[in-house]
Amino acid sequence: MPADSAPATSAASQGKAPPQGFGRGFVLDTWYFAALARDVAPGSMKRHELLGEPVLIGRTKAGRLFAMRDICPHRAAPLSAGRIVDKGDGAETVECPYHGWRFRTDGVCAAIPSLVDDQAFEAERIRVRSYPVAESQGMVFVFLRSDPRSDAEPDHPPPTFPGVVGGEAKLVEWMDFDSHIDHAVVGLMDPAHGPYVHQQWWWRSEHSMHEKAKRFEPRELGFAMVRHAPSSNSRAYKILGGAPATEITFRLPGYRWEHIQVGERQVLALTCLTAVTETKTRITQIFWSDHWVFGLARPFLRMGVVAFLKQDGGMVNLQNEGLRYDPALIWIDDADTQAKWYQQLKREWTKSRAEGRGFVNPVKAATLRWKS
Ligand code: FES
Ligand SMILES: [Fe+2]
Repeated sequence: MPADSAPATSAASQGKAPPQGFGRGFVLDTWYFAALARDVAPGSMKRHELLGEPVLIGRTKAGRLFAMRDICPHRAAPLSAGRIVDKGDGAETVECPYHGWRFRTDGVCAAIPSLVDDQAFEAERIRVRSYPVAESQGMVFVFLRSDPRSDAEPDHPPPTFPGVVGGEAKLVEWMDFDSHIDHAVVGLMDPAHGPYVHQQWWWRSEHSMHEKAKRFEPRELGFAMVRHAPSSNSRAYKILGGAPATEITFRLPGYRWEHIQVGERQVLALTCLTAVTETKTRITQIFWSDHWVFGLARPFLRMGVVAFLKQDGGMVNLQNEGLRYDPALIWIDDADTQAKWYQQLKREWTKSRAEGRGFVNPVKAATLRWKS
């Protein structure tokens, strides 16, 4: 066994049953991508579902983002169906559409309109759960806590991505997959399905399986396939011209980005996986670039992205026919090593937080080899 390979490369680990909890539960105390900042207009509110929770994400007319549980504590009407009002008492509030109770953006009840003057009822003792929300690089992230009653501030910022992020995105596509986020992540990082699921002339030809050897390194809350020239059997890269070099990074809870450098120009293709429920995951693909090709090739790129998403989504639906029976799964070296790393990263994240210590990245630098 080469000194630099991952610890899980012994024959004994081959075919081991999936670790407990794969395909169940969520990584908590972390930031999930929720929306593009441009889609959260001042004075607007929208209902989202994150990790099985209904979450209202809104922005005051003054421009402040906020996120709260989208259930009125009075009789459960969705607050997102109400409106943002400014009653001149200093702060904009969310007004429930049912009986008009009003809530500050931190979730504290500010008014119960039906109370008459001598009815002593402390409205401010009523609270809607609020969530930390952050705007970064043109995206909105929500922090989901392991202890929903805590109001501790997040101990780390949302992820930041390299390159030309933050300017206007050149392309945004999303799709909901009927799968748990674990299966979506593993599918996203799976190098071996390409020749079978994604056969199209502009991407690669059928019968062109090559042996690949790629260098991987640990990165913040994840790992990267370090900068390399794209595979010679990937035709889509050729359109960029020059000698592109690409680096693919993954980090918890579900971000994968490919940063392509072509001379002075760059492309960032970011995929955000957001757990909607235990059985639904939203995949959002966002592209930024200062490469001229993106002006011209946008319609083709969109077609390509949609084709890929549909192919993966179709495969997920097929896979669900098997997963319904809760079978044991097999993880082989090296094609499934990234999937194993993901599971190790998840376990270490949860464990380090439970033990109140720093996160120790379990990924060791390695060269992985496979045919695709
Ligand atoms: S249900 Fe919201 S105010 Fe009554
Ligand atoms: Fe795929």
